[in-house]
Amino acid sequence: MTAGLARTRSSLHFLRTVQYRRCYSTRPPSVSLLGKEYPTDKTTNITSAIADKVGRNLYMNPSHPLGILHALVSSHFRDFNSMVGLPPVVTPAQNFDDLSFPPDHPGRAVTDSYYLNDSAMLRTHTSAHEVETFARGERRWLLSADVYRRDEIDASHYPVFHQMEGARVFASGAEGRAELEADNARLAGELARARIAIEDVPHVSPTNPAQAAHDPVLAELVAQNLKLSLNSLMLSLFGDHAGGEAGEPLRVRWIEAFFPFTTPSYEVEVFFRGKWLEILGCGVVQQQTLDRANVPNSISWAFGLGLERIAMILFSIPDIRLFWSQDPRFLSQFTAGQISTFKPYSKYPACYKDVSFWLSEAGLHDNDFCDLVRDTAGDLVQDVVLIDDFTHPKTKRSSKCYRINYCSMDRSLSNEEANEVHAQVIASLKDKFGVEIR
Ligand code: PHE
Repeated sequence: MTAGLARTRSSLHFLRTVQYRRCYSTRPPSVSLLGKEYPTDKTTNITSAIADKVGRNLYMNPSHPLGILHALVSSHFRDFNSMVGLPPVVTPAQNFDDLSFPPDHPGRAVTDSYYLNDSAMLRTHTSAHEVETFARGERRWLLSADVYRRDEIDASHYPVFHQMEGARVFASGAEGRAELEADNARLAGELARARIAIEDVPHVSPTNPAQAAHDPVLAELVAQNLKLSLNSLMLSLFGDHAGGEAGEPLRVRWIEAFFPFTTPSYEVEVFFRGKWLEILGCGVVQQQTLDRANVPNSISWAFGLGLERIAMILFSIPDIRLFWSQDPRFLSQFTAGQISTFKPYSKYPACYKDVSFWLSEAGLHDNDFCDLVRDTAGDLVQDVVLIDDFTHPKTKRSSKCYRINYCSMDRSLSNEEANEVHAQVIASLKDKFGVEIR
């Protein structure tokens, strides 16, 4: 069971610092984003590296891999209303409370999400727009957007990525039931004729219950419709590219999951090139969400998928930073409407530098370290690994050592240049977090 936002938040490399306070000596009185000024406060943690990414809308470029994938999903759900371009600044209420996140959910922490101030943040998922979209009376909808999460730095994590949210609403009476039965029969028939092998879990179980507010028969039909609709999407996306020997069916596996805003909830994985890959999170929408949107007598399912993760698999893109590349050697490889295999145009050696320091009393969260590195080194940083973390037994002082891999995607980086950038990282580390370099 996963607990919360589908993308893994806990890190393999990092230990979380429990005590964490930020040094705000350099906080400006306000920050501006998309032409609007936001007065800062103690929650403000957006960096300029992040602000620079806002508004790029990579998924809207039809010949960018994210745009190609976006078009594929949209054309699969062709009778859904597809929305794009919603501004990324939302309230914590939209991002969390409207979706029944508990007050102590870790996703709310300043260490995990980007805040402009305590009442404005960058959405961490497209689900932040569920209530407003349901409230507009949309019955079948798709919504695509850039989302932002503070995280570690490696080949598959980037603080900005793209998600597509989809939902379908049914009437909760006999009419909805008839629509569900007909649609389920149609989808099941199509899937029975396709080369797909599905490992299912029960629609509901004691650990993945239906909602008390729902008629159990109807809730089961909705869960079934969700599964059939997404199995069919998996077939559209991966069916022709399953990669196995000819004749092998596409393997899709369903897993019980947990999200505060759906129950029952599931995750979908696809077996691709020898590995199970997590593709999306989904479930039957919590009735409170529809109540907040003032949509009576209705029941709905919803899903959210990450475009980068799927595009990296389908196009064989080895590093998530490449999506942001403006190098024609990257961009010219892709054509609207086509899944093609990316051919690396260069492989430049990585150059690693370590930094080892004593922490100040305020501490330092790993995500703060990563944001500082990104802000200084931009996309020259390939990954960051915490290689040592210890507390001196006598003095009780804590020390950390991080290894930063510097590597450009587009050119060869000299050792001198890496040294220069690394020196800036160290200077800013001392300045912002008062650490003592060892
Ligand atoms: N918003 C969830 C995430 O980002 C995914 C999700 C969407 C799950 C809709 C259920 C329903 O992890």
